[in-house]
Amino acid sequence: MMIPYLSLKSITELYKDELSAAVNSVIDSGWYLQGKANELFETEYRKYIGTKYCIGCANGLDALILIFRAYKEMGILHDGDEVIVPANTYIASILAITENNLKAVLVEPNLETFQIDDSKIEQSITEKTRAILLVHLYGRCSYTDKIKNIAKKHNLLIVEDNAQAHGCLYKNQKTGSLGNAAGHSFYPGKNLGAFGDAGCVTTDDDELAECVRSLSNYGQSEKYVFKYCGKNSRLDETNAAVLSVKLKYLDKENNRRKEIARIYNDKIKNNKIKLPLIDSTDNVFHIYPVLCKEREKLQKYLLENDIHTIIHYPIAPHQQKCYSNVEWYKGNFPITEQIHREELSLPLNQSLKEDEIDYIIKTVNSF
Ligand SMILES: Cc1ncc(COP(=O)(O)O)c(C=O)c1O
Repeated sequence: MMIPYLSLKSITELYKDELSAAVNSVIDSGWYLQGKANELFETEYRKYIGTKYCIGCANGLDALILIFRAYKEMGILHDGDEVIVPANTYIASILAITENNLKAVLVEPNLETFQIDDSKIEQSITEKTRAILLVHLYGRCSYTDKIKNIAKKHNLLIVEDNAQAHGCLYKNQKTGSLGNAAGHSFYPGKNLGAFGDAGCVTTDDDELAECVRSLSNYGQSEKYVFKYCGKNSRLDETNAAVLSVKLKYLDKENNRRKEIARIYNDKIKNNKIKLPLIDSTDNVFHIYPVLCKEREKLQKYLLENDIHTIIHYPIAPHQQKCYSNVEWYKGNFPITEQIHREELSLPLNQSLKEDEIDYIIKTVNSF
């Protein structure tokens, strides 16, 4: 038996009838963009996250790009302003900053939590710093009281990258509602995943919401009247309908992810492997990351034993060729580099069966 890292087919299978009915209802409606399915999903998701607005868009990268772009159109951000971002994130977080002619200032993470090290943020603040892009990486909440106070003290915006943490809580409030605005990705493999690319922006800010909605629709303010030079980044009706179905099961699925993570943490016993920290900080375990000095050997061993794993991510952003023109290219980020050198993600999702979980534990223990 081969255990895939993630079988989207098995997950879709769990809700196939409901998903088929939702897609069919869009087909039958004859209305495929900006219709009732969008309206419904946006309402359900903003209520779920706990914000005044949700604006559907084409993907998670666009969601973040649209937020920064809107702050520029509103005159709040300007070319060259600095945005603090964790050095160990998926490239999209950083692309959203640099795409807008803003400067990404990389801050090292904490090795235990994989989240931005809040004790290292203040030393990176300059007179040009205007925002912190918080990434709830791997599904763990990265927001802290300390970050809230730093943002307040230095008058910084907090933008959340909630691509990996739908449903995660910070003191009874959902990630995606903690800062000024948040970008969400519904890439198929995410905890809340669509049938293709999809994303959204959540915020309580009236002006930002209006600006993001306009920018995502060519910059239109009323039909064929264009206030901004916008882009086309909309959520299609089929995916909105699919997301409404899957949103109903998100909490249950996140609970199952947490349960599997606890089982792994209780039963994996191998001193070559460092397990992720489980403490009072909420974590919806989009990814279950372990660290291992012999990561490649471990991955090969697991594959030979029919367990497929993934590395999130093999090359750190500051070592990517696309950023060879910035000052931090090949900079000194030892913790980030260690994570990228040692991280391996074990399969963890709602379609894993008990015997598969047991087999993964047994195999990891025998490495
Ligand atoms: C942390 C993070 N930010 C942003 C994105 C971008 O989302 P998308 O793939 O929907 O553009 C992703 C996922 O791919 C991600 O993991």
